[in-house]
This record gives sequence, C-alpha cells and structure tokens, in this order.
Amino acid sequence: MSTQTQEVADMAINERVESLLRQMTIREKLGQLTQNFSGRKLEERNPEVDHAESIRKGELGAYIWALYDAPMRNRLQRIAVEESRLGIPIIFGMDIIHGSRTTFPSSIGLSCSFEPDLFERMQTIAAREAAAEGIDWIFTPMCDLARDPRWGRVVETCGEDPYLSALCNAAQVRGLQGEDPAAPDRVAACLKHFVGYSASIGGRDYNETEITEWSLRNGHLPAFKAGIETGALTVMSSFNAMGGIPAVANRRALTGILREEWGFEGFVVSDWNAVQETINWGYARDRADASCLAISAGNDMDMLTFSYLDTLEAELEAGRIAMEVVDLAVRRVLWVKFKIGLFDRPYVEEESWSPPQIPQEARELAKECATKSTVLLKNESVLPLSGKEKQLALIGPFAEDAVEMLGCWSERGRLDDVVTLSDALRSAVGPDVAVNVCKGCSSNTMPRTKTLQDGTTVRDEDAPEEDDEWNVEQAVALAEKSDVVILALGEVKGWTGEAASRVDLGLTGKQQQLFDAVEQTGKPIVSILFSGRPLAVSEVYERSEAVLCAWQPGIEAGSALADLLTGKAEPSARLSMSVPYSVGQVPIYYNRPRTGRPNSRNYRDLDTFDPRFHFGYGLTYTRFEYGAVILEEEENGGFQACVEVRNIGDRRGTETVQMYVRQLSCHSGARPEQELRGFSQIVLEPGESTVVRFSLDDAALGFTNLKGQWQVDPGAYHVWIAPHAHSGEPALYQHP
Ligand code: NOJ
Repeated sequence: MSTQTQEVADMAINERVESLLRQMTIREKLGQLTQNFSGRKLEERNPEVDHAESIRKGELGAYIWALYDAPMRNRLQRIAVEESRLGIPIIFGMDIIHGSRTTFPSSIGLSCSFEPDLFERMQTIAAREAAAEGIDWIFTPMCDLARDPRWGRVVETCGEDPYLSALCNAAQVRGLQGEDPAAPDRVAACLKHFVGYSASIGGRDYNETEITEWSLRNGHLPAFKAGIETGALTVMSSFNAMGGIPAVANRRALTGILREEWGFEGFVVSDWNAVQETINWGYARDRADASCLAISAGNDMDMLTFSYLDTLEAELEAGRIAMEVVDLAVRRVLWVKFKIGLFDRPYVEEESWSPPQIPQEARELAKECATKSTVLLKNESVLPLSGKEKQLALIGPFAEDAVEMLGCWSERGRLDDVVTLSDALRSAVGPDVAVNVCKGCSSNTMPRTKTLQDGTTVRDEDAPEEDDEWNVEQAVALAEKSDVVILALGEVKGWTGEAASRVDLGLTGKQQQLFDAVEQTGKPIVSILFSGRPLAVSEVYERSEAVLCAWQPGIEAGSALADLLTGKAEPSARLSMSVPYSVGQVPIYYNRPRTGRPNSRNYRDLDTFDPRFHFGYGLTYTRFEYGAVILEEEENGGFQACVEVRNIGDRRGTETVQMYVRQLSCHSGARPEQELRGFSQIVLEPGESTVVRFSLDDAALGFTNLKGQWQVDPGAYHVWIAPHAHSGEPALYQHP
C-alpha cells in the first residue's frame, strides 16, 4: 500500500474508532480491555456456555489460549458480532512461538543461523496455520536479551546480541503480519516482554531486575524498537520489576519510551495475572489501585485478572482515574481490531481449519531451519562420517525421542510429525550400515517441582523418582562394537522455558554417568546436545571427538541431523549465546562492559573470564582464512572495512563473516568491549576467495545515549572482521 493510501485508510479507521467510542458504555469500554481464558482443552471449559452472557453484554474483548477450533471461534464471535449491542468482534490470541502444527526450532537455535530471513519465512507459515485455526493474534516474538543461561526462557530469545536480536525479531514481525495484517493468512504480532524481563537477578524467573540506563538503551530496548519500526501491532508488558516498579505499571517504559519516543500506536497487554501481581510486589494496595496504576502507565489490556472490569467503574466514578485514560486504551484496542480486519472479516473459513498433513513446503523449511540452527562446536576429523563405518552406535535419551524435539512451546506439534534421529540416521546410511540404538538412561530422573501458570510451585507427581531406563551395560556393549558412537544427550525440555530456571547447566538425570561410561570405551564420540540453553558440560566438550549443539530442533530434527552427520549438509550455524565453562561465570556475554584492569583474571578456580565458546563461534566442514582488515574510503567520503576471505579447506562451505566495533573512548559512558554491527554469509568453493565489505556508517558506529538519541562520536574505533567475537586483529579507524 502506498503511504498516501495508507494514510487515507488510517483516517477511515480513526473515524470508525471514534464513532464506536462515542456509543460505548463504561462497561463496554472495560470489556474491550478484558482478556479471558478459553481453556486449553475443550472438555475443561465450555466458553460458549460460560462466557456467552459476558460476550453478549460486550464485556469480553479478547481471548487468550484460543481453542484452535475455527467453528468454535466462529460461534463465540457470532455472539459478539450479532448479539452484543455494538457488535465489536473479539480478538483471539494464542502462544505460538516457534511454529504451530509445523514446529520449527526454538528461537535460540534459529537465531544461530544468523539468517533473519528464516524467521520471516517460519512466521509466515506459523501465521498461516494459526489464522486457519481461528487465531488472530500470537504472543511472539520474544525480544528479551539472553545473558544468563540459568534463566529458562533464554530458549525463547534470539540470543545475547541486541543487533542480531533486532534483525531476527523484526523479521518475525514481517512474517506474522506481512504487508497487510488484515490478510486472511496473517496475524497480529506481540513484542514481549517489555521490558528487562531477562535481567532477573540470579536467573530467577519473575524477579526483580537491576538495569542501568545504558544497558536498557543499548541492550534491552533495540530489539523492541526494531519490532515497533517494523509495525508490530501489540506489545506485552513483562513480569519483572525495574527499580521496584512492576513493568505492567511502568509509565516511563510503556508511555514514555514506547509511545512518546517511538510513536507506538497499537495496544499493550499485560502478561498473565500481572496486573494483580502488582499487589504481591508490594506496589499496589489492592486490585483497584493495581488497575489505576497499570492503565495509567499505558498497559491497555488486562490479561486474566478482570481487575479493570471489576474495579475501574468505581474508580472512574470516584474521580480517581479520568475517562480519557480509559478511552485512550480502548481506542488502541479498537484500532488494532480494525487494522487486522476483524470488523470486516470477523469469521474464519471452517473447512480448512485442520490440515491432515503438513504441506511439503513447510516441512522443507522446518528442515532447512533445523539444519541451519545446529552449531558444530568441535570436530576432530570425525565428521562428516566417512561412509566407511559398518557399525554405528546411537546412544542416549534423545536418540529415538520425538517429544523433546518439539521444544518448549509446541502446543500444536504432533509426535507423529517428528522425524526422529534414529529413523533418519538409519535411512541416511542405508541398509549396509548397522545403526544400533539404545537409550541408556532417561533424560530426567530427579524428583522435581513444577510451576503452574499463576506462578505457584507445586510438586510434580508425574516426575519419576528412579531412572528405570538406566541401562549402561547395553550402552557400553553397543559402543564397544561400533566404529563411531553418536551420543544424543542434553536437558529435558521441561527444564527450559517459563519458570524453568536452573542452578546447574549440566546434563539432566544420569546422562553424565552414561557419557562417562561410554567414553571409557575409547571409541570416537560424536555428541549431539539437545537443550534450550548453552550447557556447561566440560567432559562432553573435552572428551568427545565432535560436538553438535542442536538445541530444540523441531519436527525435522532427525533428517537435518542425519544430513549434517553424513555430510549431505554443511554446518553453518554460529552461537547466538556464549557457552560458559562454568555456571559461576554467568551472566556472561561478549559485549560486556569494559574494565580498568582488563588483564586481571581473578577467578581463583578458573583462569579466564572468557566463555568456553564465544558468541559467533561455529565450525564448518571446511576452513576459512581471513586477510587483514583494510579500511577504504568510499566515493561519498565515508569509509568501508573490508577483508578477503578464502576457503582453504577441501569442501564447499558457508562462512558467516562478522564485523565488530569498539569505540576506544567515550565521554557519554564507556562503550562495551566490542559490538556486532554487521555480518554477511558467503558460500565459497575450495580455493575460492572473496572480499567482504562493511560500511563504517553511523549505524555501525553509534549508540543510543541516555536521552534516547542515536549518537556517533568522532574519534578512534577498533574494527574487527572475524569468524567470531574473540578472533582476528582489529584495524584502527579514526572517525572524522
Ligand atoms: C506468560 C508468559 O510470560 C508469556 O510469554 C505468555 O505469552 C503468556 N503467559 C500467555 O500464555
């Protein structure tokens, strides 16, 4: 749509919004700000019976956990559109994070592809599937920054780097909303969690954060800003507090930054129960106070506490809150409903809502995503498999697994859609190679607790006390008769995601003992790690001949991994999050603040401050050589940094060439050690070389100052062009 046509369309929307607003009663207005829960399973609740009356009265504007049931959605919608006084449609929301029926790799994995376009393509498919099932709005992308792997939700992020995360998240918004979010195969995106959620102290989910203005501006905000600039229609406020102010009531963030600085026009929804939780935080006195604080701060919609609906009418009457505040929130909600075409197309097609099979195109993309997410961390000439092996042992709890492959947000993923590693490997190596499979142990044997949606922790009665799958003898026997052992290990997906923090970054259950026993056989070991966070597993990294970090790869896990193992595909992924030696090092991230004593390494029990594997690190099946960084003047007077990269191995490969910058001195506040400001993926044949160039423009050199402005200082900069964050020699660039 041209800008002019867009403006005319927006004016028409604004008029329709205002006209509705003039007719609405207070209850109807508050209804638009109220999000109800439709039940995870049909048998648990019957919204048609339970909610019909509130829908009819106009007191239910939105659903969370919509039912994946287009006919049911239409029936509920019909009550809203045809039986309520003003006929305002309901918006149906759902958590679809890394795919719906077609389950793709979790975001932490996909961000390792360093290919933002994959996010756009993935979310295009997710949006299509979700929309066909009656969902209008999905609670993704997650723009939080991953600096502390103890925090279980790093799995949902695009890693530790604000620049990469901004690109990946903007791409997700494009994929979800497309050019026209009103198209029948698109949905509204929701940037979450605003803001600072990932900085919770000690990696403890839902906790307080200590964030400096510098780190907020240059670390936590850029991905959100990129999402807003791409047109994201909604934002979710977060669970954490910053400086004692719960995010849902943080006026400076929700109004100051989001609206006044960035011009966001959509609506903000709270996270689950968060409005009421301001009381637990010791911030709000009671529900009425909580509602006034949250809505005045700029939190437009209340997810699930019904506090706005229950209390704001009285608060308005008592004059403790102005009608303009409520009107503003309602206006934003209605505006989004118009933008996504809900008024013109409130119902969805019922025939297509549940496809019998995943379309080929979606499967192929899922495989491409899984292949490009898997990071080769170590390879002592064992991969790709030579093709001469006669006996392979495939050992570990993830070897034949389907459940774990789907990852931590896979409400719609089906086990029978998953290609397991064992099946795929057997078919990849053919009938002449024996693939002997054994679990050896289960992935999780510890008795544990689980956390309910409202944050309450209870004992998990389903967690097994003993590992009745422990079978190390069989594992060792299989290893002994094999040419190569492939160990499929990791952490159970239930220990990743929301309310799933860890104090230890090791393998779950008895897998470490299994590894130790198999390793004793002396056979070459290829370890494949399945996890939602970087694992600190020294023995695995040191004693395996090769290590692949596969994250949570999705439905095409097995086929992608089999291709990588056999060399049909080349590994190309790079870590989007540093892998520490020890949990004692975290939070750990490459763009860390500078120090006055850079050479001091004062951990008594570890001789480095560096991670084991750096951000940006990842091997290929070939080798690349980098020349020196050269600075060249451009015709317009600007400068470029260039480097020649050559494939010096004997296979074709994809190299992710990365540019990092460091401003040497800055009076506005010291800049970090280094920051990624460009990358480029190149494919080179053996012996081939190419020159890769990056512009040293304002975007590459600047930062956001404490006033929220982009600032570029004249002066000295170091510029690296290198294969990861801890390599190469910098060139000195003097910016005029
Ligand atoms: C809580 C989570 O923090 C959020 O990411 C999710 O979208 C909501 N629950 C809704 O399920």
